Amino acid sequence: MSSLLVLFLACLAGSSFGAVEVIQNGTYILEYGLVNNETLTVTATVATQGWVGVGLSQTGSMVGADLILGGVNADGEEYINDYFAVGNARPIVDLENNILTYNVTENATHTTLFFTRAADTGDIDEDLPVSRSSYIIWAFSDSDSFAHHGTERRGAIPLSL
Ligand code: HEM
Ligand SMILES: *[C@@H]1O[C@H](CO)[C@@H](O)[C@H](O)[C@H]1NC(C)=O
Ligand SMILES: *[C@@H]1O[C@H](CO)[C@@H](O)[C@H](O)[C@H]1NC(C)=O
Ligand SMILES: *[C@@H]1O[C@H](CO)[C@@H](O)[C@H](O)[C@H]1NC(C)=O
Ligand SMILES: *[C@@H]1O[C@H](CO)[C@@H](O)[C@H](O)[C@H]1NC(C)=O
Repeated sequence: MSSLLVLFLACLAGSSFGAVEVIQNGTYILEYGLVNNETLTVTATVATQGWVGVGLSQTGSMVGADLILGGVNADGEEYINDYFAVGNARPIVDLENNILTYNVTENATHTTLFFTRAADTGDIDEDLPVSRSSYIIWAFSDSDSFAHHGTERRGAIPLSL
C-alpha cells in the first residue's frame, strides 16, 4: 500500500460511510452515514414533489419508529420536522426537534432532503438511538399533505452502519 493511501485511510478512520441504497430503480436514493460515531447524516433524493420521509425503526414497521419528514411546498418553501409514529397513521411531531442541520430542495422532478442529527439525541420518549435501531425506513408521497404513502411507496432496509 502506498503511504499516501495509508494516510488517506487514516483520515477516514473517524467516519463511517454507511450506505447508499438505490430503491425502486432509483426512484428513492438513500445515502446515510455516521460521522465520528456521533452524528447521523442522511440524504434522500426522491422522484417526487411531495413529502419525503426517512426513519429509524427497531422492527422495520413505522409503528414505534423515529421519523423525519420534509419537502418543499407549492409556494417553494421548505418544511422539515422531527416526528415519531405510534401506529400506521400520520406521524406525531416531537416536542423536541432534534434536527441539527438540514436543507430541502426541489426541482421539476425531484426532492432532495438532507439532514443531520445526533446518533443518540437523548430524547428517549420520541427518538431512537442509532445503536438500538435495526432498520432504516423510507416513504414518500406525490402530495405535500401528510396523506398515506400507499403500499408501493414505503419500505424498510436493514441499517448498515
Ligand atoms: C405521512 C403520514 C403517514 C401515514 C398516514 C401513514 C400510514 C400508513 C398506513 C395506513 C400503513 C399501513 C398500510 C401499508 O402497509 O402501507 C403504513 C405502513 C407503513 N408506513 Fe406509513 N404512514 C405515514 C408516514 C410514513 C413515513 C414518514 C414512513 C417512513 C419514513 C412510513 C413508513 C411505513 C412503513 C415502512 C410501513 C409498513 C409497515 C409494516 O410493514 O409494518 N410511513 N403507513
Ligand atoms: C429502470 O430505469 C432504467 C433507466 O431509466 C430503465 O431503462 C429501466 O427500464 C427501469 N427498470 C424498471 C424495472 O423500471
Ligand atoms: C459508537 O457509539 C455507540 C453508542 O454511543 C457505542 O456503543 C460504541 O461503542 C461506539 N463505537 C465506537 C467505535 O466508538
Ligand atoms: C445542504 O447542506 C449540506 C451541509 O450543510 C451541504 O453540504 C449541501 O451542499 C447543502 N445542499 C444544498 C442543496 O444546499
Ligand atoms: C432535478 O434533481 C435531480 C436530483 O438531484 C437531478 O438528478 C435532476 O437532474 C434535476 N433536474 C434538473 C432539470 O435540474
